[in-house]
Amino acid sequence: MSFRNSFIPFFICLSILSLDFPLQSSGFREMRSSLIRLPNGNSHHHHHPFDPSRVTQISRHPRAYLYRNFLTDEECDHLIKVAKDKLQKSMVADNRTGKSKESTVRTSKGMFIRKAQDEVVVGIESRISVWTFLPVENGEALQVLHYENGQKYLPHWDYFQDKTNQALGGHRIATVLMYLSNVEKGGETIFPQSEMKESQLKTDEDSKCAKKGYAVKPKQGDALLFFSLHPNATIDPLSLHGSCPVIEGEKWLATKWIHVRSFDRKRVSASKKERLQGGKPQLS
Ligand SMILES: *[C@@H]1O[C@H](CO)[C@@H](O)[C@H](O)[C@H]1NC(C)=O
Ligand SMILES: *[C@@H]1O[C@H](CO)[C@@H](O)[C@H](O)[C@H]1NC(C)=O
Repeated sequence: MSFRNSFIPFFICLSILSLDFPLQSSGFREMRSSLIRLPNGNSHHHHHPFDPSRVTQISRHPRAYLYRNFLTDEECDHLIKVAKDKLQKSMVADNRTGKSKESTVRTSKGMFIRKAQDEVVVGIESRISVWTFLPVENGEALQVLHYENGQKYLPHWDYFQDKTNQALGGHRIATVLMYLSNVEKGGETIFPQSEMKESQLKTDEDSKCAKKGYAVKPKQGDALLFFSLHPNATIDPLSLHGSCPVIEGEKWLATKWIHVRSFDRKRVSASKKERLQGGKPQLS
């Protein structure tokens, strides 16, 4: 390379460097920290680093990913403790009217944990957002589910057929299932239409139901992410999934459904109301 050829890149480099300096001196902290805060835990909780190298892709059609040890044992126990006394029969959305109803299709019990209700929940919701690249506000409240002997959720889609359930936040784009307990037998998450279902090796440990699709065996702390929409925003029917009946032990699960738009209606309308009522001026 001649002197002249290397001279120009050298100057570009130099000017980029000098442009960088004022930023570094004034905004050093901001540049170093993430917009989404991942709490590092405190003396009572183990430090939980976000480590995407623990993620494996388990299926391309549908798009599904497994993250080993996404939650600490303490986080799992916390969610179960919060939910334990407040469980109610799980409902499904009527696919025509969108109304919530009981169904033999889904026999678990569950409850919703208010978004950001405590530090542990904030930590989990932040980590989900950093993993999925989807904003915290697009998520529904965490739903904690409990499946006992024989309880199941037959294969279904997480996207809605009706318009009512799409009014807030639009379609559900992705789901994160977090296993809060181990299950001795059964309780697998299955994808009956995954391209990988034939190639997955099955053992005697798998339930009969698990053999009907690609199966993920619940393991405390693991998280499963799958997408209900294609990257082009059309629905992916291959995202059909279900929860196999629990045969031995019990299954605790936390679900985060994530929409294409914000799901935080209340917060938005509350601040709007404040503005309409001439709330406190922003600058004093
Ligand atoms: C809607 O639900 C009914 C009964 O619950 C079922 O037979 C039908 O196949 C469902 N339709 C779709 C499009 O999922
Ligand atoms: C969207 O993507 C899916 C999956 O790649 C494809 O099958 C489908 O035809 C696409 N639809 C549109 C409208 O682009």
